[in-house]
Amino acid sequence: MKNIRAVEADRLPELLRRMPKAELHIHIEGSLEPELIFALSARNGVAIPYASVDELRRAYAFTNLQSFLDIYYAGASVLLHEQDFYDMAHAYLARAAMDNVVHAELFFDPQTHTARGVGMETVINGLHRACVDAGVELNISASLILCFLRHLSEREAFETLEQALPFRDKIIGVGLDSSELGHPPEKFTRVFARCRELGFHLVAHAGEEGPPAYIWSALDGLKVERIDHGVQSLQDPALIQRLARDRIPLTVCPLSNLKLKVFPDLAQHNLRALLDAGLVATVNSDDPAYFGGYINQNFTETFAATGLTALHAHLLACNSFEASFIEAGMKRRYLEQVSEAFATFE
Ligand code: ADE
Ligand code: ZN
Repeated sequence: MKNIRAVEADRLPELLRRMPKAELHIHIEGSLEPELIFALSARNGVAIPYASVDELRRAYAFTNLQSFLDIYYAGASVLLHEQDFYDMAHAYLARAAMDNVVHAELFFDPQTHTARGVGMETVINGLHRACVDAGVELNISASLILCFLRHLSEREAFETLEQALPFRDKIIGVGLDSSELGHPPEKFTRVFARCRELGFHLVAHAGEEGPPAYIWSALDGLKVERIDHGVQSLQDPALIQRLARDRIPLTVCPLSNLKLKVFPDLAQHNLRALLDAGLVATVNSDDPAYFGGYINQNFTETFAATGLTALHAHLLACNSFEASFIEAGMKRRYLEQVSEAFATFE
């Protein structure tokens, strides 16, 4: 293709599907499809309060973040054994490969599992084995980011970190997720300082439902390298300047924002405004089993609703690799793959 600008709107879905991309904001427990929840419920003898896959799916009508989290944690209760964690991550990575995801950084919530008596080694070994196998079978590089649950205490986060340290070579970074409002990042300043000393990459959910102040706090208090969501940043021009100046990536999740009522409809999503402001925004699926689509669905629906173009597609594909924690040589090779995909698109 000689000229990216010349791609017609009706060819955009194909371009979006074909371009290589990294996914940087996916909660692996949020990839548990209802069918797998029921299969694991039967395999492990864990009862769930829904009679069928259809009934469970019908419960996915959310009013805000908390209404989703209540169901998300209930769904994760069927995970008990290392093989369960492997199967969940393997299913996600196989599905992501179909969307031309070539690199994925997977969030996991160990406290959701250790609180039920599941060992940290069970969780991490299962997920890690799936990441290793995906490199061989699917040609995807995949790594793990341990998220602390922000509705729990600083002490519990420190205990979780302690439990995870024997497996530190299997984790590239730490993050912060769960109920945002009322749990500002500064609650975890000391935990993140310790993780920084230990050499982990740092990210945090901020500005999903919470105010710009939470994003400032994640940047200046936690010293994170990326902001997960961050869509509320547009309320604060000084914050936008800071994010642009320091090229702090935002991992944006449009269908999640739609389903959790952060925006009333996709046409009003601010992804385009974030890109226009010069921010390193990326597109991701968050919890694809719950929000109606994997990464390409997020791309195609958002492009259709907001009139984004092939130039934006190119920028978003490049941003996804720039924002990743891949080592420099590999990053360059992935960016070359993006150039190649656009150059050969007819
Ligand atoms: N855990 C899973 N999905 C989440 C989201 N969208 N926000 C905060 N915590 C989460
Ligand atoms: Zn998230």
